[in-house]
Amino acid sequence: MTDSRKPRHILITGGAGFIGSNFAYHWCNNYPGDRVIVLDALTYAGNRQTIAPLEGKAHFKFVQGDICDRALIDQLLEAESIDTIAHLAAESHVDRSILGPGAFVQTNVVGTFTLLEAFRQRWQQQNQPADYRFLHVSTDEVYGSLEFDDPPFTETTPYTPNSPYSASKAGSDHLARAYYHTYGMPTLITNCSNNYGPYHFPEKLIPLMCINILLGKPLPVYGDGQNIRDWLYVKDHCRALDTVINKGTPGETYNVGGNNEVKNIDLVGLLCKLMDELASDLPVSPSEQLITFVKDRPGHDRRYAIDATKIKTELGWTPQVTVEQGLRLTVEWYLQNRDWWQPLLSPEYQQYYQEVYAKRSVPV
Ligand code: NAD
Ligand code: DAU
Repeated sequence: MTDSRKPRHILITGGAGFIGSNFAYHWCNNYPGDRVIVLDALTYAGNRQTIAPLEGKAHFKFVQGDICDRALIDQLLEAESIDTIAHLAAESHVDRSILGPGAFVQTNVVGTFTLLEAFRQRWQQQNQPADYRFLHVSTDEVYGSLEFDDPPFTETTPYTPNSPYSASKAGSDHLARAYYHTYGMPTLITNCSNNYGPYHFPEKLIPLMCINILLGKPLPVYGDGQNIRDWLYVKDHCRALDTVINKGTPGETYNVGGNNEVKNIDLVGLLCKLMDELASDLPVSPSEQLITFVKDRPGHDRRYAIDATKIKTELGWTPQVTVEQGLRLTVEWYLQNRDWWQPLLSPEYQQYYQEVYAKRSVPV
C-alpha cells in the first residue's frame, strides 16, 4: 500500500469461490497498480458473476481453467509474469468429501502439487527472486478435533486430519512446506478457522440456515448441536492473507482465527433472531420453530479453536469484525442479494441436498 511498493503480478486460484472472490476484491481495491489474474475451473462452487464487476478493469483478467492443467499454468505464469500465487482453489466442503473423496485428492493434492511445480520452474528460471511468494491457503481442520477444555490449535499442533477433505488439505500443506525446505522456494501457509460473509455458497452452515429460514424449510442441526467452530468474518481473513504475503516470513505457517468460538446450536439461534428482526416476510416466524436435530455427520469434529498469537505478534494482524457485527452484516447481505443465491439452488444443488439430507431424515 506504500508508494515505493513494487507492483506484484498475482495469480489468485479459486478466485470465483467464496474466499477467493472476496480476496480478489480486496487485492484489486488495495493494490490498483498490480496485475491480478483469477484462475478458476468454475466447479459447482465457482461463480463468475461474483467477480463480474472486476472484469471491466484493465489490470484484471479472469481465466477459466483447472489447477491440475500444467501446460495452462506454465503458459499463464510466463505470459503474465506471475511473481505471486495466492492459492485458494480447492474442493472445500466436508460433506461432499464424505460422498466422494476422489475430487478432493485430485484438486487439493494433485492440483496444489501442479501449481508448486510450475511455480518452482518459473522461480528457478528467473534466478530465484527473493520477493516471489507462494501463499498456500489452508484450514484449521488439519489439526483434527479438540475436546471442550483443550487449548486452541497453535502452529505446532500435530496434524490429525479426520475427514477426506482435511486429509487432502493436510497433504497439500505438507507439499507446500516441503518446497520451502527442499528447494528454498518462498512458500507460506495459513491455517484458518471457519469463514463467513458475502458470496458463501448455500451448502455451508451459515448461508444454508439463512436461506432455509427465508424459504421456511427445516434447519438441520447435526447431532446434538454442541459442536464448536471459531468464526472469522471473511474480510478479516483476506486482510490476514494480504499481511502474510507482504510481511510473512517464507517457510512459516500462520494460524488465523477470530477468537469467536460458538456452539452450532447457539449460532443457528442467533441467525434465527437476526432473521426474525431483519426480514419482513418470513414464511415461518419465529424461525426457531424450524430447528431440527438430525443424524450426525460421520466423523464430525467436535471443536475447532485457533490460537492466532503468532500472526498478531509477529505481523500485527488482528480481526476487526466481531461475530455479532459480522453475522448481522451477513444476514443483511443474504436478504439484499437474493439474485446472487437464488440461481445457485439449481437442480444439481437440489440433488446434492437430497443426497445429504434425505438420509438424515430431513424433509427436503
Ligand atoms: P469454495 O468451495 O467456495 O471455492 C473454491 C473455488 O475453487 C471455486 O471457485 C471452484 O470453482 C474453484 N476450484 C475447485 N477446483 C478447482 C480446480 N481443480 N481448478 C481451479 N479451480 C478450482 O471454497 P472457499 O470456502 O472459498 O475456500 C477457499 C480456500 O480456503 C480452500 O483452500 C479452503 O480449504 C480454505 N479455507 C476455507 C475456509 C472456510 O471456512 N470456507 C476456512 C479455512 C480455509
Ligand atoms: O474450519 C475451517 C473449515 O470450515 C474449512 O476448511 C471448510 O472449507 C469449511 O467448509 C468449514 O468446514 P465445516 O465443516 O466446519 O463447515 P460447515 O459449514 O459445513 O459446518 C459448520 C458446522 O455446522 C459443522 O459442525 C457441521 C454443522 N452443520 C453443517 C451443515 C451444513 C450442521 O449442523 N448442519 C448443516 O446442515
